[in-house]
Amino acid sequence: MTDFETVVVETDVLILGGGMAACGAAVEAAYWGKKEGLKVTLVDKAAMDRSGAVAMGLSAINQYVGLKDGQNTMKDYVDYVRNDLMGITREDLVANIARHVDSSVHLFEKWGLPIWKDKDGGYVHEGRWQLMINGESYKIIVAEAAKNALGTDNIYERVFITGPLLDGDRCSGAVGFSTRENKFYVFKAKATLASMGGAVGVFKPRSSGEGAGRAWYPPFNSGASAYFTLKAGAEMTCQEVRFIPVRFKDAYGPVGAWFLLFKSRATNSLGENYMETRRPELENWAPYGKVKPVPANLRNWLMMLDVMEGKGPIYMRTEEAIAKLAEAYKDDPKGYKKKMKELENEAWEDFLDMTISQAMLWAATNTQPEEKSSEIAAAEPYFIGSHSGASGAWVSGPKDIAPDEYFWGYDNMTTVKGLFAAGDASGASSHKFSSGSHAEGRIAGKAICKFVKENNTACAYDEGAIEEAKKAALKPLSQYADNQHLSSQADINPAYIQPKMFMMRLQKMMDEYAGGVTAQFTTSKANLEKCLELLGMLKEDSANLGAKDLHDLMRAWENTHRMYQAEAHVRSILFREETRWPGYYFRSDMPKMDDANWKCFVNCTMDPKSEEWTMKKVDVKTVF
Ligand code: ADX
Repeated sequence: MTDFETVVVETDVLILGGGMAACGAAVEAAYWGKKEGLKVTLVDKAAMDRSGAVAMGLSAINQYVGLKDGQNTMKDYVDYVRNDLMGITREDLVANIARHVDSSVHLFEKWGLPIWKDKDGGYVHEGRWQLMINGESYKIIVAEAAKNALGTDNIYERVFITGPLLDGDRCSGAVGFSTRENKFYVFKAKATLASMGGAVGVFKPRSSGEGAGRAWYPPFNSGASAYFTLKAGAEMTCQEVRFIPVRFKDAYGPVGAWFLLFKSRATNSLGENYMETRRPELENWAPYGKVKPVPANLRNWLMMLDVMEGKGPIYMRTEEAIAKLAEAYKDDPKGYKKKMKELENEAWEDFLDMTISQAMLWAATNTQPEEKSSEIAAAEPYFIGSHSGASGAWVSGPKDIAPDEYFWGYDNMTTVKGLFAAGDASGASSHKFSSGSHAEGRIAGKAICKFVKENNTACAYDEGAIEEAKKAALKPLSQYADNQHLSSQADINPAYIQPKMFMMRLQKMMDEYAGGVTAQFTTSKANLEKCLELLGMLKEDSANLGAKDLHDLMRAWENTHRMYQAEAHVRSILFREETRWPGYYFRSDMPKMDDANWKCFVNCTMDPKSEEWTMKKVDVKTVF
């Protein structure tokens, strides 16, 4: 601890994270900051080229509205998102992203991202909102633009942010440590953007043992945004709205290209299509059960009903879809061969672009998609504000669209002065995906510069509190070093708990009591209360996390962050006395949707000092 140098970095704007939202914010803040002579600094726990949810690449851009070509309107997108989230969404935020997202996509193309083109030079759509790309290097391309805009001197990679700095009711920066050197960082900033992604690994994953590092969402996103905003005292929203993606089983390959581009069906072991046989069930979730496309959670739910009745496994009928697409060429052997080759290429590239391990699993299991179906399954829950989940901080909307209740001065500012959130860190604005996260980052990047321009005063710093934060950040190292001699086995010790053990304990309680895979995504008041009791004990033990090196120190903090995300989740599901998103979670004691009482947001706040929680209902305002 004593040999940890303290490095102080003073800046105007601080961007935390290096993913799509952070890269968007960097580009925009660099531009607006330059006009005002502001210094913009970015901190990433990893390396920007391959960090965040798009690290491995993507095979599609899931949000493109096509406003200019008149393909869709802003309202069309808002309607889609509202329906998909069973009526609970911030229309102002969704609209703000929808009106800017196309320009982010055009920038990606300008920066070198190959977007599939049809014979007339138009984008090839996977679905109404989705574009096909050759996206293996998507993140590198987007990061390059951000790095060029900021300059490498203003970028700190491999620095793990542990928590916020506060000056009264204003966020005044962040602290963290290097994952490579014995350095503790203090970033003093006039305004801070939290864009450190969502959380994976809060629930026990389906994968185990040698596959445990595999998840749908990048395993390195561990709740840093939720922790940071909670610990700054920011109001949070939709903490109950987890995302359960249905994916190719065991390697989590994407399903979008199969369902939308290849028009594949998924069937149970009896060959039945649950989207048809289970259709009457959708009536129980009207009006949302009746919309098109059927909301993602309800698609999950219909599949789960089959699984619970023992009709699994569930298969993506790849062989059937490919055969149908090639059918038109049947009478032309050469053309047929060519078409089959083309479809085979597209099928493999879909995985190789973004989920290489799924292609490896196909190879390892002798799977040729044109010959054999592949299993799909519901994955463990994730916390993500950008895809079909909605958890994140409650942020101000745009002045020209937001109802008064949703506007407090600056786009994407949380309820804490000077603290902004974007991407997976901001809530109630689902379906922004990669492109929308980038666009939202740009919105926040511009707004944060405006905030600094209008509040350009130095924050006050309590050096004693900073020293305390340093001690707390590094404590797992001394906890380990001082007590290691107490046992002969490094991972079993009366004085400390190692990050991995801690994580497994968290995952087990969440899985069993808060509706994970083992519990078939089902929970109840009694189970949630039990979970809170266990979480309380886990929190006590978090003070004794032990770390043998810097890497372990990062793991220790990742799991502390996850624990707070878990608590926000459990408290929010408990507070919402209904089942609104079957297929994401089911409350066995409140099995129905209750629009009369619960068509509202569930927001929560944690007092940063006492760590007491306040829960509340907030009205859903219709704008469009
Ligand atoms: S990805 O993030 O892994 O690529 P996913 O496979 O869910 O996403 O699908 C990509 C896009 O297609 C998302 O916008 C998703 O909501 C949409 N999508 C996937 N399956 C369906 C379906 N059966 N009906 C309508 N939309 C779908």
